[in-house]
Amino acid sequence: GGSKEQPINIVIGEKPSVRAEFGAERLAGILKENGYQVSINAAESEEKKFYRIVVDELGSEFFQLQASELGVALSGQPGKEGFVAKSSKNALLIGGADASGALYGCIEIANRVKRNGKLPHSIDVTDQPEMVLRGACIGVQKPVYLPGRTVYEYPYTPETFPWFYDKNLWVKYLDMLVDNRMNSLYLWNGHPFASLVKLKEYPYALEVSEETFKKNEEIFGFLTAEANKRGIFVIQMFYNILLSKPFAEKHHIKTQDRSRPITPLIADYTRKSIAAFIEKYPNVGLLVCLGEAMDTHEDDVEWFTKTIIPGVKDGLAQLGRTDEPPILLRAHDTNCKMVMDAALPIYKNLYTMNKYTGESLTTYQPRGPWGATHKALSELGSVHIDNVHILANLEPFRYGSPEFIRKTVIAMHEAHGANGLHLYPQASYWDWPYTADKGSPRLLEMERDWIWYSTWARYAWNSKLDPRGETKYWTKELGDFYGCGKYGLKVKEAYDESGEIAPKLLRRFGITEGNRQTLLLGMFMSQLVNPYKFRIYPGFYESCGPEGEKLIEWAEREWKKEPHVGETPMQIIDEVVEHGRKATAAIEKAAKHVTKNDAEFSRLKNDMYCYRAFANFFDQKVKAGAHVLRYQYSSDIADLDAALPYLEKSLEHWRSLVEFTNDTYLYANSMQTKQRRVPIGGDDGKNKTWAEMLPHYERELENFKKNLAQLKNPTAAKLESVTPLERRRVRLANQNLKIYTVAEGEQLFADRSYTIKNVAEELKGLTALRLPMDAQLNEKTIITFTCDTPVNVLVGYLNSNSRDYLQPPTLETNASANDHGQAEVRIANAIAADSLPSVNVHTYRFAKGENTLELAKGAALVLGFVNASQAITQRDAGYGSGQKRETVDWLFY
Ligand code: SER
Repeated sequence: GGSKEQPINIVIGEKPSVRAEFGAERLAGILKENGYQVSINAAESEEKKFYRIVVDELGSEFFQLQASELGVALSGQPGKEGFVAKSSKNALLIGGADASGALYGCIEIANRVKRNGKLPHSIDVTDQPEMVLRGACIGVQKPVYLPGRTVYEYPYTPETFPWFYDKNLWVKYLDMLVDNRMNSLYLWNGHPFASLVKLKEYPYALEVSEETFKKNEEIFGFLTAEANKRGIFVIQMFYNILLSKPFAEKHHIKTQDRSRPITPLIADYTRKSIAAFIEKYPNVGLLVCLGEAMDTHEDDVEWFTKTIIPGVKDGLAQLGRTDEPPILLRAHDTNCKMVMDAALPIYKNLYTMNKYTGESLTTYQPRGPWGATHKALSELGSVHIDNVHILANLEPFRYGSPEFIRKTVIAMHEAHGANGLHLYPQASYWDWPYTADKGSPRLLEMERDWIWYSTWARYAWNSKLDPRGETKYWTKELGDFYGCGKYGLKVKEAYDESGEIAPKLLRRFGITEGNRQTLLLGMFMSQLVNPYKFRIYPGFYESCGPEGEKLIEWAEREWKKEPHVGETPMQIIDEVVEHGRKATAAIEKAAKHVTKNDAEFSRLKNDMYCYRAFANFFDQKVKAGAHVLRYQYSSDIADLDAALPYLEKSLEHWRSLVEFTNDTYLYANSMQTKQRRVPIGGDDGKNKTWAEMLPHYERELENFKKNLAQLKNPTAAKLESVTPLERRRVRLANQNLKIYTVAEGEQLFADRSYTIKNVAEELKGLTALRLPMDAQLNEKTIITFTCDTPVNVLVGYLNSNSRDYLQPPTLETNASANDHGQAEVRIANAIAADSLPSVNVHTYRFAKGENTLELAKGAALVLGFVNASQAITQRDAGYGSGQKRETVDWLFY
């Protein structure tokens, strides 16, 4: 290759694409940083001998002439976005299959120069990406709701998103993406249209000021142009059906309402919004989420085929376009296959996207029903994209295991048939562009998590890289970054070891992969010994990891001396403790050799201690849980005595985690709303640090000790005493509704003969509604009532997946599912009735005055109205699953 003494001339064709031009400039910049003299398209003469780098598309006349003049024969035939880079004695040719290919050829050489400090001596590579879409996303969202607004509703304004208008920040971010050869950028927002387009028919829908509107037009123009130069397609994501706030107010309707049917007005408004957007931003793609504020798959089909696609077509027609730009469809909260089957006949260029394993990284061996969804979608023949969604189990510590990520990308291809990657920020999605690290100025996620982006992008480009070569590659990357040479290997080991901890723990002990749970805030004993009470998200265990046992299953098999199946809880805690030990040992080995980026290294090192403390905390809790669950069968108090030291020890590890995080982290989870339920509610931004969790875990230990002491004292009062619920009178708008007093022998439905066999003590005596099941099967249940004080309405959900029964509130697919505090099970297995599934009671809180309880189609029970300020002890009454099943979680309350 060229030498630092010899000047370099990068020559690009007469009318180069913006991408080739950008690539040439980027390469020139990197060469200069490394001590080369570089010009672009300088006039050459006999006296001035340049080392020449030619950049263009392979097929161009210019490129062909240059190749023959320089006597370089190119044989490689790269596909889309691919390139050939070949050097001769005094020249280097970079030919792209297309404009992106020319760009990526330059990036390839630039990255080699960055890595080695010099141009490669000689090179002959032909390369092209494996995945066709390689993208990252940014949440144009916040950790909390804006005043007067609800989930996902964040107009684009400088007040809410100062960073959105920061051009330098965009350039930094886009440069990071292009250096990683990523080609798509997704912006996630509920309803972006009313910030970006004006509608002739609905001028009042605009929800930003004229001044902001101009700024939005300007910055969107800037962003898309800068992205395009870097080969990046900008895609705007939106939820449905969300309306602009002024539009909704004008029409006296809600901005979003899951139970609202499609109306001509909202369809017309949305169709026109989309058309205007396509017309105004012809280079921006759309990613459509048919939810969460929309119910029924039939409505999803109708909305997509009769509103969204026609909106896109209207916009294209305005531009006189006859092509079909891609529309991407999310599988979230819809039946994507059903929608695709209906939509493909009217629009061909559809892509599908589904969450890889939900909202957490849990495995590189995905399977089960969610794996089947991926397969069904990829088999449609269009491009299917795996979405590495919110990393609810990785927030907020650093994550960058090259091994885990490499294997995951292989699984995307092999298990899912996916050929695209959509990557979320590693942490703090709701708080972009920052991380949760304490300190001023705050760290930028794109900088802190550089290894997150570079690992995923590297394997999205090529998942077939040889593992041994990869160890060398990352050793050098990390060795260079921290100036620790070959000890980069130890840093990689620390990442690989720590990188197993959160995935293994969540898939084996978690309640959900969704952001309803923040794993790294720990779990309560009640959640470990009776996870069902917290409603394990259906499909999670089957889909998000290898086959194995829950702790509660393990304990039963252990007691019955039955063989264990697959990955066991005991195996996993042993493994994570070992991962924690190895991660810290490795990082300590590297520490002595670090000569660069010291401050970041200390933070990374601290994260390794955090992970170790967390693994140790979990290990002790699971061991305590195993003894407690044994007691469930043995009734031997010695088993509970055996659990105590483990629980005490777990608290010591938690205290050390508090120490490691107190000065280093602002929070664990970036979604700081009441949608977070596990380990505990995140209402009003509470319970987001390890220090805040400490008193809860201390209380758990105290409760256990207290209950244990009572158990040992035979004269003590009945342990599981429950307080009756305080009935509240309400006036029902519909006088025809039948009521009854909850008691054994009472009939549950007006038109069915099921009667109560057993019922939880605290429900007895409440005034319940005897609703007609036939009506519930066909229409929503709407109960309007007036109350003089705030009330909780007790709603009984029948535990069955049958579509005849109302399905319980599901935060995983409906962020509004806790608006009335209804997300949690208050009393599990509260009622037994012959041949009906067991009943879980949830509560809906209402203020005083006139209220309406709306339940979607499906049978459910309304079991009473009670004082909203009375605390309800969450418990499992154990009725309904055959005989009364003893549960042991009460020991911790
Ligand atoms: N859970 C929400 C979704 O999947 C937020 O990311 O869209």
